[in-house]
Amino acid sequence: METKSVQSRDVADYFQSVRAEIDAALDTYAQFASDCPRRLASAMRYSLLAPGKRLRPTLAILAADLCGGTRSDAHPACVALESIHAYSLIHDDLPAMDDDDLRRGRPTNHRQFDEATAILAGDALQTFAFETLSTRIHSPEVAVACVRELSRQVGALGMVGGQEDDVMWASTTQRGVGALDLIGEAIVVAVNSNASEEDDQLDQRARSLFAFLRKIHRRKTGALIVAALKLGAFTARASSEQLSALTRYGETIGQAFQITDDLLDAVGNDSTLGKRAHKDAESGKLTYVSLLGVDRTRRILQDCVDASRRALSDRKELFPDASHNAFEIALALPEYLAKRQS
Ligand code: IPE
Ligand code: IPE
Ligand code: MG
Ligand code: MG
Ligand code: MG
Repeated sequence: METKSVQSRDVADYFQSVRAEIDAALDTYAQFASDCPRRLASAMRYSLLAPGKRLRPTLAILAADLCGGTRSDAHPACVALESIHAYSLIHDDLPAMDDDDLRRGRPTNHRQFDEATAILAGDALQTFAFETLSTRIHSPEVAVACVRELSRQVGALGMVGGQEDDVMWASTTQRGVGALDLIGEAIVVAVNSNASEEDDQLDQRARSLFAFLRKIHRRKTGALIVAALKLGAFTARASSEQLSALTRYGETIGQAFQITDDLLDAVGNDSTLGKRAHKDAESGKLTYVSLLGVDRTRRILQDCVDASRRALSDRKELFPDASHNAFEIALALPEYLAKRQS
């Protein structure tokens, strides 16, 4: 018990110490020339510098720390990752998507500015990410590797693809109606662990539904988290063994992170979250909570946290150059993220 609380305090300290350098890099890099329309620059900075957790840049720094890199070499990747994240949130909140008016305790971008500016600020933050990687990373090989990885992870087969499946599930009436049947059946199958042979077909449909849900999580949330770890590792010239361990670690953190987000939506409140709670059920989102309820979802979350820890726990020898307690921070991080309140 004592060890656990010390570990979680250590992770909190790590986030806090890394945050100072990330925020300084964000502020320094995101100075837009006077040619940039002022309202657009303000909208971009409004979301980019808003008080989020800075998870993705922190993961990039952690990967660099694990692989014996120099943190400042990872700063362009940190800025690019947070830029993509900020753009994804601006667009996620738009009326055509999740239609939210509160984000990080403030009005969403389209509420603070206007819808057209919010769409364009998102567009410009996305290109700013790739401009940053291609102009601020000194090594051309590392820059190309970062651009290739990030563009693949956040494109149509990655984050954007996941967002499309997420919003289409909720908004297509036909699917929504079919979903209700499947959800009922999925719960029956999940509760009945001794499903008989006659339940095979039912079981198959339920399994497809859970596979679809995992795919949404893998793409809309996991992809950018994996990219964060890999970009940080690229800047530290990581080996392919290090990259594959970090990829597995990131995939499981991604699942756990979105499950926690969905749990917080169900049990949290607006002021703690800094965004509207209880939106997922209202909008008909496909989540573990909607399928299985809060208690069973918590158990699935714990499985993901354990899997994430296991992805690294017996791999310490892969990271001989890890700085100070980076490896221990990485092991404690999944649980820390699953216990967050916002
Ligand atoms: C919110 O991400 C969107 C999801 C992928 C769940 P975060 O929870 O990391 O948001 P901020 O950056 O802390 O605001
Ligand atoms: C957002 O998922 C995922 C991305 C922005 C890519 P959610 O829609 O659940 O995130 P919140 O709850 O609005 O932060
Ligand atoms: Mg969404
Ligand atoms: Mg949303
Ligand atoms: Mg959410």
